[in-house]
Amino acid sequence: MTNYTISPDVASALKSFSLPEKLGFGLVLAPVMYSVEYADGQWGKGALTPYGPIEIAPGARALHYGEFVFEGMKAYRAGVAWPNLFRAQDNFERLARSAERLAMPPVPENLFFEGIDAVAGAMADFIPTGDGKSLYLRPFLYGSEPGYLLRNSNTFRFMVIANPVEAYASGPLKVAIERKDVRAAVGGVGVAKASANYAASLRASNSTLARGYTIALWLDGAEHRYIQELSGMNVFAVINGELHTPQLDGAILPGITRDSLVTLARHRGYTVVERPMLIDELLQQIQSGTCTEVFACGTAAIVAPIGVLGDADGRDHIPAAVDVVAQELRQALLAIQERRAPDPFNWTRDVSRSSRD
Ligand code: COI
Repeated sequence: MTNYTISPDVASALKSFSLPEKLGFGLVLAPVMYSVEYADGQWGKGALTPYGPIEIAPGARALHYGEFVFEGMKAYRAGVAWPNLFRAQDNFERLARSAERLAMPPVPENLFFEGIDAVAGAMADFIPTGDGKSLYLRPFLYGSEPGYLLRNSNTFRFMVIANPVEAYASGPLKVAIERKDVRAAVGGVGVAKASANYAASLRASNSTLARGYTIALWLDGAEHRYIQELSGMNVFAVINGELHTPQLDGAILPGITRDSLVTLARHRGYTVVERPMLIDELLQQIQSGTCTEVFACGTAAIVAPIGVLGDADGRDHIPAAVDVVAQELRQALLAIQERRAPDPFNWTRDVSRSSRD
């Protein structure tokens, strides 16, 4: 028995779904979604329904004031019948912290996992495997109350949608250093997975693509000198054989994959240094050969090599190695995520089977 309702159309929505050959990232939608609403200080009853458009008041604060936080997480099903989640508790806790930063009510743990388990469980037969493929889950929480008065909504909606996906990026990333726009500043909402941060990054993402690069690299909001993160990914550099990554500065999103790589790399014998990293120093280190490799990581990206860092002055900086340490860590991480290797950190857990009971 489930605590949420299952719409009678869910079975036919799943029956008429098949996994296409080409998945991309976010192009293929799971045919089901989960939703639960908050009003009068309490959460209602969740529902699993076919995926489809939702109604939202045109004056809802989510639309006008960006009252919207979300998560990205994955379910894997490599070589087994039933899927497992990777570090789902950390996603739950980060969503609660993001909600707290935007003064929204946290999604209760039972409802968060009800939604994740309902969608991942319903999609169990459609989770692609191999080459970093998985079911990407997108839980999100938004303020649904209309009104222009600057205060929080009194009504909210928590939803989970999902996509069978390949890795976000294929081939080495071409990074464009963004020296003008700022994604997030200390004291703002950069530490929260809030839609506002992604909105702030879109103009630079467009110009990055127009210049023939794939992704923007963000610098700190105060001095524009320190590396923060890439759009939607954290960043690592191999310097003198050690792994260096920007220290969480209060504006960088604390990536769960970033944290996993810090732990995994140390476990594999690497020295990992979290420190403020100056962009100009890194570029010099690439030039002198002290920095041999740079790579990105994130839930969507997994671990993605970086082939070039292009500066605003038009100069390209090319690390000597591409995808050496990155590949080692990507394989080690994926082996744990796909349960092909022991999980010494207790990072994986089964999707609850209650959706099938
Ligand atoms: C994720 O990795 O889950 C993200 O939200 C990043 C986004 C650019 C897909």
